[in-house]
Amino acid sequence: MSTPPGGTAAIVPAAGRGERLGPGAPKALRSIAGIPILVHAVRSLISCERVGLVVVAAPPDGVSEVRDLLLPFGETVQVVAGGDTRQRSVALALDAVPEENDIVLVHDAARALTPPALVTAVIEAVAAGCEAVIPVLPVADTIKAVDSSGTNVTATVDRSSLRAVQTPQGFRRSLLVKAHASAISADTTDDAGLVERLGIPVAVIPGHTEAFKVTTPFDLILAEAVFAARAARHPEEPGA
Ligand code: C5P
Repeated sequence: MSTPPGGTAAIVPAAGRGERLGPGAPKALRSIAGIPILVHAVRSLISCERVGLVVVAAPPDGVSEVRDLLLPFGETVQVVAGGDTRQRSVALALDAVPEENDIVLVHDAARALTPPALVTAVIEAVAAGCEAVIPVLPVADTIKAVDSSGTNVTATVDRSSLRAVQTPQGFRRSLLVKAHASAISADTTDDAGLVERLGIPVAVIPGHTEAFKVTTPFDLILAEAVFAARAARHPEEPGA
């Protein structure tokens, strides 16, 4: 598992069941245009020259299946067993990233069609000096808070300061290691949240609509349409 000094490694937590997608295979193994979601995500990462290593956290009972699926990528892609939470899966994959990778990305497998240009933009922002960087989009819908029963509105939230957060999230390796080491009892849904708990600033860059997370059956239909549109534009390289 060797990468050039000062390289970038990417971690892909893919050990979840993805139950919101309905019954069937784990989400990362569902297909878009006949290609598993996880393969799409890994392709978009390694099509960036600066990414020298991808470590995928697979469901503990599915490591060999995922390893077989990713075999065509060779040594660049490694597979480890994930944990019982997303955070634990990321921590286990981070353990497998050699120290010479001074930038580490964390990318949800479910963001299958993330444009490689977004991956590059995140890496460049970290390389330019931001210790933690996340891609974000403005929130289009009006956002309301509801009571604990979920049936009554308690407030309308000012959306002008809200952002929807995507991945890949990019970090100086040392900061991500520290954030995970201090996160034993934290309950965050992303890695930048752990960095925020340390009081360290997290920078934002513009996200991309096509980096959406495939979560529901509707998202799968959307992903098929996005992939088909790209294939029509770039028949040789639909991931571009
Ligand atoms: O469930 P959710 O969509 O928030 O999961 C985000 C990502 O974390 C998914 O890619 C999922 O596979 C991953 N995950 C994981 N290990 C877990 C649970 C989720 O790697 N135990």
